[in-house]
Amino acid sequence: MSSYDAIAELYDPWSASVVEDVAFYLEEARRSGGPIVELGVGTGRIAVPLGADGIHVIGIDSSRAMLEVCARRAALAGVTLDLRVGDLREPPVTERVPLVICPFRSLLHMHTDEDRLSVLGATHDLLVPGGRFVFDVFAPDAADIAQTQARWLEREPGIFEHAVWDESERTLTLTIRGDERGTTMALAWLSPGEWRHLLMRAGFEIEACYGWFDRSPYRGREDTVWIARRPSS
Ligand SMILES: C[S@@+](CC[C@H](N)C(=O)[O-])C[C@H]1O[C@@H](n2cnc3c(N)ncnc32)[C@H](O)[C@@H]1O
Repeated sequence: MSSYDAIAELYDPWSASVVEDVAFYLEEARRSGGPIVELGVGTGRIAVPLGADGIHVIGIDSSRAMLEVCARRAALAGVTLDLRVGDLREPPVTERVPLVICPFRSLLHMHTDEDRLSVLGATHDLLVPGGRFVFDVFAPDAADIAQTQARWLEREPGIFEHAVWDESERTLTLTIRGDERGTTMALAWLSPGEWRHLLMRAGFEIEACYGWFDRSPYRGREDTVWIARRPSS
């Protein structure tokens, strides 16, 4: 049972304003030529536009309910996606691909370096030599924590979020409620330096670390957008 099962029908209205990353991932997918793997595909917020562009997407997610919504959304758009139930740490993929993506901070669902390295190692193995791993994560700044700590905020009409930040453990306990549905999930963040170190331990070369999806350089703000490459030889 995944914490996302309970909010699968709420996820799209909850994330309705998150659109800034779609063109970025589409550009990366086009550049790769596909096929691509999306780890934590969710309801297809990214995968459906990529599929609509003719890119073959293998989507992995541990939440069956999210995958059901994704399949419905893809069918409505006339898109075929290859959706598979599985874990980020052991993705059920035997194919080798030129691009793996993990959008919208899904890696923050990994709480230990062991788990993070499992995902990074599995991803490295999925890639052809020279293939890329593209993902985004965040680390909150003090102002964001102060503004949102333990407050109910209306993120979208009728959909509320409650964040409890633990700065010493570097975890966020996020509760989402709306439309009589709700869930609580735990996320764990790292500094950009720690992500860099883990990527290198997993055998990646780092091609870019942007501060936003417009490819502007990272300047110490909350978000980082990574392009890592499996070395060619
Ligand atoms: C923030 S959502 C991102 C969904 C989609 N990529 C997007 O950009 O909208 C995180 C997704 O990761 C999935 N997820 C969380 N932990 C997972 C795990 N251990 N294995 C596979 N999927 C997982 C959740 O079910 C959810 O669909």
